[in-house]
Amino acid sequence: MIILKFLHVLFIFIWMGGLLMLTRMLGYLSKESDATFQAMNRINKRIYFFIDLPSMILAVTFGLLLLFLKDMNWKAPWLHMKLMFAFLLIVCDITCGCLIAKGKRRSRVFYQILHGLTGLFLIGVLVAIYILKQRV
Ligand code: HEM
Repeated sequence: MIILKFLHVLFIFIWMGGLLMLTRMLGYLSKESDATFQAMNRINKRIYFFIDLPSMILAVTFGLLLLFLKDMNWKAPWLHMKLMFAFLLIVCDITCGCLIAKGKRRSRVFYQILHGLTGLFLIGVLVAIYILKQRV
């Protein structure tokens, strides 16, 4: 079980690092010329499909394995809060991935909001685990 938790947290780190970097990078690129945006988007595609997406899939898979193999209290408010923010992080990731895959360009404010929400939801998960869970 400890190996599952280790792998879950390891891939969470890689996933969060990739998603925060990509949403910030897209914000900077939104001000660049179309040629620069498309050239950098080819690199973003590799980062998304070779690092971000696989680490998200592995982090969630190990999390779900932990959830079903461990004796979890499914009624625990901290777990509901954590899974809600985890779901919102997955939505942010897929939104980012679709934009990168299509090479679609959005406004700078859009990327700033996506980046900010990603950070906020990450903090939400950590508050659920390290504050709410400790209080139960
Ligand atoms: C669908 C998504 C997820 C599921 C099903 C899931 C499930 C779990 C489970 C069952 C545990 C073990 C809890 C325990 O030992 O009491 C765990 C631990 C952990 N999860 Fe997740 N998780 C998910 C997403 C995330 C996300 C998005 C983050 C952070 C951004 C995260 C961070 C952690 C951390 C840091 C731990 C270790 C907590 C400790 O030290 O005990 N998880 N996860």
